[in-house]
Amino acid sequence: MPQNKVDVLLGLQWGDEGKGKVVDVLTPRYDIVARFQGGPNAGHTLEFEGKKYVLRSIPSGIFQHGQTNIIGNGVVLDPVLFREEAEALERSGIDLHKVLKISKKAHLILPTHRLLDAANEKAKGDAKIGTTGKGIGPTYTDKISRNGLRLGDALAPDFKERYAAARDRHLQRLASMGENPDITELEQRWLDAIDYLRRFDIIDSEFVINNALSQGKSVLCEGAQGTLLDVDFGSYPFVTSSNTVTAGACTGLGVAPNRIGDVFGIFKAYCTRVGSGPFPTELFDETGRRIRDIGHEYGAVTGRERRCGWIDLVALRYAIMINGVTQLIMMKSDVLDGFDEIKACVAYEIDGKQVTDFPYSLDTVDVKPVYVTLPGWHTDMTAMKSEDQFPQQFKDYIKFLEEQLATPITIVSIGPDREQTIVRSRS
Ligand code: GDP
Ligand code: IMO
Ligand code: MG
Repeated sequence: MPQNKVDVLLGLQWGDEGKGKVVDVLTPRYDIVARFQGGPNAGHTLEFEGKKYVLRSIPSGIFQHGQTNIIGNGVVLDPVLFREEAEALERSGIDLHKVLKISKKAHLILPTHRLLDAANEKAKGDAKIGTTGKGIGPTYTDKISRNGLRLGDALAPDFKERYAAARDRHLQRLASMGENPDITELEQRWLDAIDYLRRFDIIDSEFVINNALSQGKSVLCEGAQGTLLDVDFGSYPFVTSSNTVTAGACTGLGVAPNRIGDVFGIFKAYCTRVGSGPFPTELFDETGRRIRDIGHEYGAVTGRERRCGWIDLVALRYAIMINGVTQLIMMKSDVLDGFDEIKACVAYEIDGKQVTDFPYSLDTVDVKPVYVTLPGWHTDMTAMKSEDQFPQQFKDYIKFLEEQLATPITIVSIGPDREQTIVRSRS
């Protein structure tokens, strides 16, 4: 953790790598944890002391020892879902008003953004993205087209009029798509939730973070989604609408690029994806079902089945390059504990040629994964306390991945609980 730098933790695959769990584990090392993009499309799961929590907009540092948690300007916030999440946390004894701060510049998700998300998906038919339906795309669209409403606007006297103008614009658009919803109830709940939000500490987060850095405090930036869902570098158009990569931490929090310290890249020992879009190593057979069952691969937000497949090193190398990953964290290794063989995709075969650079498009060409097969370890690792206890085949698997990815794996997760985390010693 270099001085006056922020560390960034983000997903290297299609999301749900286990970011929430690891942010919670790493939080004691930091003074501030800050979310920099995405919104309630995220579902970050944490487990400790026999309890399970799912966070959507609130950073995963909330359960540790009173660190400051910040929702940054790059995040899009749904007041109604935020209120549900915050009230549940308050009921479990967390004094949120003390530890949570929210950027004035975070954009607001309106009820009509969610309706537009659904209408856009319907209009796309079979080509739909399979979004989480949380209004993410339409909210970021309004932000970029300079029509958005920000949380800071909720503090202005003319907020209601500005809200009404945005709502009317959305309703017109919906009408042009054949949708004429009655939003009276949704709107009332949303306005009540805005009142609730106003009672939080609404801040200029870029100053708070940079001042904290100048005072020698440490900051962990928490990513949502994953690199392959990044709007620029992911499997476009089957992506989310924000920059999920390290650069997103700069724009989503107001930290300069030369302030980036360590970048923790998280990946599962296999690969999953929810929603539509290409997935070269997807398994449609018994092995895929087995991974889904053992790994409980169902979405934390939508409950949808996650598509499962083998680890994809072509995509991982690309994600490591784009993010400048300095340390890798491997999650859910325990899910493969009982497998005879583990496969890893080391290249793609496209038009009879082997390719190791992640291609421009994955859905317009026929991509055949080229696999290396490694022996399984047939050992229950879930109760292990140190890397010395790892079976040899698993140690070999780690070594193989480190060589292929040219980056050290410094943490291995062997179960969903906070305690099931092995920090490896670095030689
Ligand atoms: P996130 O969105 O990246 O925070 O990940 P999710 O919470 O959506 O999905 C990860 C799921 O895997 C959650 O249900 C976690 O409780 C669970 N999990 C995290 N790490 C491990 C692990 O090492 N082993 C197992 N078996 N489950 C894990
Ligand atoms: P966390 O932070 C997995 C996927 C959706 C869809 C695409 C676009 O928990 O890893 P959106 O609602 O963002 O417009 O949907 O992105 N998606 C995720 N998949 N984990 C997530 O978040 C995701 N957030 C969005 O399934 O394919
Ligand atoms: Mg998730």
